Amino acid sequence: MTFHAITDMHLASSLATGDDAARWRSPRWHRPAPEPSGDLTELRPLPADGLDPHGVEQIIFRRRSTRNYDTGVEIPFDAFSTLLDRSTRGVASDVLTPGAPLTDLYLIVHAVEGLTPGVYLHHPQRGAVELLRAGTFRAQASRIAAGQQYAGDAHVNLYYLAHLPSITGRYGDRGYRLAQLEGALHAGKLHLGTHALGLGAVGSTSFDDEVVDFFSPHAAGKDYMFVTVFGRRRRKG
Ligand SMILES: Cc1cc2nc3c(=O)[nH]c(=O)nc-3n(C[C@H](O)[C@H](O)[C@H](O)COP(=O)(O)O)c2cc1C
Repeated sequence: MTFHAITDMHLASSLATGDDAARWRSPRWHRPAPEPSGDLTELRPLPADGLDPHGVEQIIFRRRSTRNYDTGVEIPFDAFSTLLDRSTRGVASDVLTPGAPLTDLYLIVHAVEGLTPGVYLHHPQRGAVELLRAGTFRAQASRIAAGQQYAGDAHVNLYYLAHLPSITGRYGDRGYRLAQLEGALHAGKLHLGTHALGLGAVGSTSFDDEVVDFFSPHAAGKDYMFVTVFGRRRRKG
């Protein structure tokens, strides 16, 4: 089956020639960092030598999705910090700007040691998370992730949101692809990172508009690009 809206959009935002591509990627945008207005908690990432000694290739082989989470425990704050810090440093690219991501990371924190449960915004340039709304939102997390239980059980839900009007203003219609690609690459890195730290993750489908409503008013005007949830696996039996 072909979803024609998808192939039409893909064609409409494709570049025909090398010159078109060069012109398109020439104005790299250094997006200004959002200003925090709530309480900030400084992250405490682990040093590189505290991480998995087996190397990234082994981690790629071991990577699986995790849908069963242990709701009886919290995950360590340094593991949480490391995942946010390492996964948002950017990737080698001729158009994305390292240190100035296009996507904002909204978090639903259920069970992280020393962190009040609630909704947070990650500030990568400050190495901190900002508390937007304190509370326990397991039922809402499950609901917006298309009613799937694992989102309510996971220790953290990470939503990548983007303000598309300002991105397409710089990069044209193709800016949408760029924001989606960045969110997915950051989430992919985070997924590998969870394995390095003895945790697990899964990407999810979510209800786009309900996601934005849930994170609003802060996220009003932004769009949902990608989500991954992560935490400590529940042992069988
Ligand atoms: C964009 C995206 C959306 C996904 N949505 C769901 C979902 O709604 N429910 C689910 O159980 N898994 C979801 N997944 C996870 C995939 O089902 C999973 O990656 C796939 O089955 C491969 O399994 P593996 O990750 O264990 O290798 C999603 C993955 C991605 C990348």
